[in-house]
Amino acid sequence: MNKLFKGFLFIASCISVMHVTAQKKTIDQKVDSVLRLMTLEEKIGQMNQYNDDWTATGPVTLDSDKAGQVRKGQLGSLLNCVGVDRTRSWQNIAMESRLKIPLLFGQDIIHGYKTTFPIPLAEACSWDMDAIELSARISATEASASGINWTFAPMVDIARDPRWGRVMEGAGEDPYLGSMIARARVKGFQGNKLGDLNSLMACAKHFAAYGAAIGGRDYNSVDMSDRLLWEVYLPPFKAAVDAGAGTFMNSFNDLNGVPATGNSYLQRDILKGKWNFKGFVVSDWGSVGEMINHGNVKDGYEAALSAVTAGCDMDMESRNFKNHLAQLVKDKKVPMTLVDDAVRRILRKKFELGLFDDPFRFCNKERETQALNNPEHPLASRSVAEKSIVLLKNENHLLPLSKNTKTIAFIGPLVKALKQNKGFWDVEVPGVDSNFIVSQWEGLQNKVGAGTTLLYAKGCEIEGTNKDGFAEAVAIAKQADVVILSIGERRDMSGEAKSRSNIGIPGVQEDLLKELLATGKPVVVLINAGRPLVFEYTVEHAPAILYTWWLGSESGNSIADVLFGDYNPSAKLVMSFPRSTGQIPIYYSHFNTGRPARSDDNHNYNSSYNDLSIYPRYEFGYGLSYSTFLYSNLQLDRKQMKPGGSIDVSLSVTNLGKYDGEEIVQLYLRDRVGSVVRPVLELKDFSKIKLKVGETKVIHFKIDTEKLSFYNQKMQWVAEPGDFDIMIGASSKDIRLKDEFKLVK
Ligand code: NOJ
Repeated sequence: MNKLFKGFLFIASCISVMHVTAQKKTIDQKVDSVLRLMTLEEKIGQMNQYNDDWTATGPVTLDSDKAGQVRKGQLGSLLNCVGVDRTRSWQNIAMESRLKIPLLFGQDIIHGYKTTFPIPLAEACSWDMDAIELSARISATEASASGINWTFAPMVDIARDPRWGRVMEGAGEDPYLGSMIARARVKGFQGNKLGDLNSLMACAKHFAAYGAAIGGRDYNSVDMSDRLLWEVYLPPFKAAVDAGAGTFMNSFNDLNGVPATGNSYLQRDILKGKWNFKGFVVSDWGSVGEMINHGNVKDGYEAALSAVTAGCDMDMESRNFKNHLAQLVKDKKVPMTLVDDAVRRILRKKFELGLFDDPFRFCNKERETQALNNPEHPLASRSVAEKSIVLLKNENHLLPLSKNTKTIAFIGPLVKALKQNKGFWDVEVPGVDSNFIVSQWEGLQNKVGAGTTLLYAKGCEIEGTNKDGFAEAVAIAKQADVVILSIGERRDMSGEAKSRSNIGIPGVQEDLLKELLATGKPVVVLINAGRPLVFEYTVEHAPAILYTWWLGSESGNSIADVLFGDYNPSAKLVMSFPRSTGQIPIYYSHFNTGRPARSDDNHNYNSSYNDLSIYPRYEFGYGLSYSTFLYSNLQLDRKQMKPGGSIDVSLSVTNLGKYDGEEIVQLYLRDRVGSVVRPVLELKDFSKIKLKVGETKVIHFKIDTEKLSFYNQKMQWVAEPGDFDIMIGASSKDIRLKDEFKLVK
C-alpha cells in the first residue's frame, strides 16, 4: 500500500467514524473531529466566500478557477448561487474534495424569494410582528427549498437620513421598534430551529452603525458617541443575538476612524465578548480589502491581519484571507487558535444546518416546485402589503372609493409597471419570470365590477422633462368620476449605493398632478418609493394620498383592497418624513436643547430653521385610517414606583368610525431630568388592536425599570429616580393622553 493510499484510507475511516458516531457526539465534538483532519489551507478555505457567476451584488473579482478551488477544499461558501440545480452542481464539486465539507449558499433574501413581500421599511410600518415574521418565514420556506441555506438579512441598521438609499432595507429610525422587528425577522427566517428543512440561517447586518453614514452617502464614514451607539444603533443587533441569529455581517463604514471590518471593539469586545455570540461574522462584500482604501492598512496582508484579529471570520469576495492568511500564520502574526476559532464557528453552523448529514438536503426539486407554487404565499404577501400601505391624507373622506364608481382614470408611469414595483432586492429566481407581479392596473381590474369603466394613460415617465403625455392624461381625467395617479421613484433609486441628494419626486410627475387637479376632478395620489420622499406640492394640493412603497408580488391587489375599503389602512410611519431635504436629519426622539424650537414657529434665537416649520411633514408613528379612534380613561395603578417595580397603565380605545379597523396605540416616555440629557420622548411600548365599529377595548401596558433606563455618564445602564411623563399617542406628535409618575429610591 503506498503512503498516499494509506493516508486516504485513514481519512476515509475518520470520516466514516465521524458519521457513525455522529448521533452520540455533541456538535462541538463533531466540529473538533473535522477540524483535526484539516490542513491550514483547508481551514482558510472555509473562511472564504465567493460570488457565483449568476448575478453579482457588488464589484466582481474575476476568478477562472472557482471550481478547482472548491475541489481542493479551498472554499467554504458561495453567494448568489440559487436554485436546486445550480446549488446541487456546486455541492457535487465540494463532495469531490478530500474532506467533503459541504458548501454554504448565502443570498440576499431581503423581502422574498419567488413571492416578493413589501420592502422591509414598508413592512415595518405595519408594526405587526406576526405579519413580519410570516413574510420572513415564507421567504425562508421558498429559498431553503431552492438550495439556499443562509440569508443576508435582516438588515437591522437604524436609519435617520432618507437620502441614504438603504433606508428601504431596514425598520426605520427607532431602536425599540427596530429591536422588535429584528427579533421577528430572525425568528421568521430561522423558524423553530436551524436544521429544519425550511429554515434559513439569518445574518444581522451591518455591524455596526452603517445607517449613520455622514450625509446619507452610502459607504460613508460614521462618527458617533458611544452613548448614541449603545442606546440607538446597537439595540436591534443585541435583539438579533438574543433571537439566535446564526451570523452577523460587518459593515463598509469606519466607526470613529476604525473600519468596522477591522474593528475589535465591535466584533470581539461587544459581539463575541459581552454578548457571547457563538455564530460567525462574515465581512461585507470586499470590505476586508477596502480597508486599504480607508487608509487603515497598507496592503492585503495587513487587511487580512486586521480583519481576522478583529473577529471577522469569513471574507466575502475580497480574496485577502485566501491570499495572505497562510503567510500570516507562518509569520506568527495570526495564531492558529484564531484561525481554528473562526473555522469552528463556521463548521458549527454547517453542522447545525444538517449539511454534514446530507449536503443536498436543501436541493430537492420536488420540494422546490411545491414551495415556489404554494398558493398561500401570494395571499400572505397581499395581506402583509395591505398592512404596509400608509394613508397620509384623506380630505372629505374621498377614500375609500365606491365600488359603484362609473369611470376611473388610472394615470401615471407606475400603473402598468411590473418589475418596477418589486423593490430593490428582488431575486432572479431561475425559471421564474422576473415580471411575476400583479400590477396596479391588473389589481384595479380584478377589483372593479362590470359597471365600472377603467381608463388608462401613462402621462409621463418617472424621470425626465417630457410632458407630451399630459394631454392624453388630462383628456381621460375629464371623462372620469375620480382620478388615481400613481407616481414615485424607480425601484432602483433606493437601495444599496442609491443615495440621493434631492429626495423630491423625480421628473415632471408633480407637474402632471397639477394639470390633473386643474380638471377639478378628485385625485387620489399613490406614491411608490423606497424611502420617505419630499412631495410638498402633493401634500398641499392632492385631496388623498396613499404611500404605497414597493409592495412586492401582490402590489396591485393590495392597493386595490385599500382603495376600495376591503382593507382599512392601519400602517404608521417608522421614519419621519421631512418637508425638505435640508431638514434632514429629522427624527422624533431628539433632545430639547437649551433653546428649544417653538411650536408657534417663532424662530427668535432658538434651535430651528428660520424658513421652515419645526415639525416634519409627517412624523414618526403617523398614519390615518378610514375610521377615527377615541382614546380615553388613562389610568396608572400607582404614581410612584421603586427600582425593580412596575406600573400598570391602562386606557380605552373606541372605534368611532364607520369601518372596522386597526389602531396602533403608542406609549412614549420622557425622563424630565437626567444626569445626561434625555430625548423629548421615546417609544417604549405599543399595541396594535382590531376594533369593530363602535367597539371599545381596554389596553394595558407595563412600565418597568428597564423602560426607564439609559447610559449615564459612566456608561452604566441605570434608571435614575425622578419624574417621568407618560404620553399615549396615535403618533409621536398626536399625543392623546398624558400623565406623570415618579421613580423613587
Ligand atoms: C453588499 C451589501 O452591503 C450587503 O448587504 C449584501 O448582503 C452583500 N453586498 C451581498 O450581496
